[in-house]
Amino acid sequence: ISKYRPFTPIVLPDRQWPSKMITTAPIWCSVDLRDGNQALPIPMSVEEKLEMFDLLVGIGFKEIEVGFPAASQTEFEFMRRLIEGDRVPDDVTIQVLVQAKEDLITRTFESLRGARKAIVHLYNSTSEQQRRIVFGLDKPAIVDIAVRGVRQVKELVATIPETAITFQYSPESFSLTELDFALEICEAVVDIWQPTPEHKIILNLPTTVEVSTPNIHADQIEWFCRHLRDRESAIISLHTHNDRGTAVASTEMGLLAGAERVEGTLFGNGERTGNVDIVTLALNMYSQGVDPCLDFENLPAIQQIYEKCTRLTVPMRQPYAGELVFTAFSGSHQDAINKGMAALEHSRSELWDVPYLPIDPKDIGRTYEAIIRINSQSGKGGVAYLMESEFGLQLPKAMHIEFGKVIKQLADVRGSEILSNELYTAFEQEYLLRG
Ligand code: KIV
Ligand code: ZN
Repeated sequence: ISKYRPFTPIVLPDRQWPSKMITTAPIWCSVDLRDGNQALPIPMSVEEKLEMFDLLVGIGFKEIEVGFPAASQTEFEFMRRLIEGDRVPDDVTIQVLVQAKEDLITRTFESLRGARKAIVHLYNSTSEQQRRIVFGLDKPAIVDIAVRGVRQVKELVATIPETAITFQYSPESFSLTELDFALEICEAVVDIWQPTPEHKIILNLPTTVEVSTPNIHADQIEWFCRHLRDRESAIISLHTHNDRGTAVASTEMGLLAGAERVEGTLFGNGERTGNVDIVTLALNMYSQGVDPCLDFENLPAIQQIYEKCTRLTVPMRQPYAGELVFTAFSGSHQDAINKGMAALEHSRSELWDVPYLPIDPKDIGRTYEAIIRINSQSGKGGVAYLMESEFGLQLPKAMHIEFGKVIKQLADVRGSEILSNELYTAFEQEYLLRG
């Protein structure tokens, strides 16, 4: 961690800048097995969900939403396999989602039988659009749905004293809900649940659909945190979707605005454009010297299991994970990277300081091998670097230019990338075979 510098502010004379920074990891909750799974063209089988669950535990998630057990027999059976198979480590809490409907809540509690602990996540939709179009109900009727739901959960919790239950409530479609109404319904739920600073309630405020710029999301979160009556007894949780492509930024801004928990998925799987990508969020923190408390030391192995279980492919430009994110095609970038690497080696500094590479790829199980690729855009520096790093051949300076031209020409003619074995063949033909 210490090899990454926190972002260094340029101090302005008249104000502190930046005003806030993320300095600690939030409570992470993976929703891969629920929001992620429900959005897959082919949902995961029970076996695949188990493999994914073990992966999430290995990464270090302490809270994992494992499904919506009242929604289907597969979901119910998965819960039973987890509990009866004793698959849940002591330091991990499983979370189950349920809509505020009597029969679904009853079934959810049946799925929980024998669990040591769990988070019961109750939701109902609250926005003006949902009230008008989907439910045809007014505000008091929507509050009533939530209140009846939480009352039933409270009664059922009393019947299973052997299971430690934490309660979570989501005003679904929070991002499109009038703020004062979102607060009113959450306060009504809080009044019934009666949380304390020792036994907090989780209030999860989803951008079910991302409809605004990240600063507006942050304003909503900040307003909510400021106006909640008993802030000490609540954990404010973010659940962002990526409809505008800004879920990561919205989440980071939401944390700065006062939230302390984040729900999301690996590589941003989830409904439509996905949930927020926790890998990016965590590694953004890591690159700023903040311990994300999640282990992505072997990101390629994580990606492999993820792709197998979800049948999705991580895009080539995906931050940190994409195949191309530690490559440099342009000659000037290649040159700068070479200089950075050389300076680092020379200084023996512990601090990562290489242009164009925000983190050391090695830290997440990626390698340098693919960093320098040679195509028609590359300069002489990249060619010389590869000759040395791949084949141990230190070309004299004059040869950098000469051989660089040869390779550029070859790449132009070919119209494609030159692989390192082809680079060596070209070198052989140009200098060795000709004698
Ligand atoms: O996006 C959403 O609003 C949800 C809720 C059920 C929390 O997934
Ligand atoms: Zn969601």
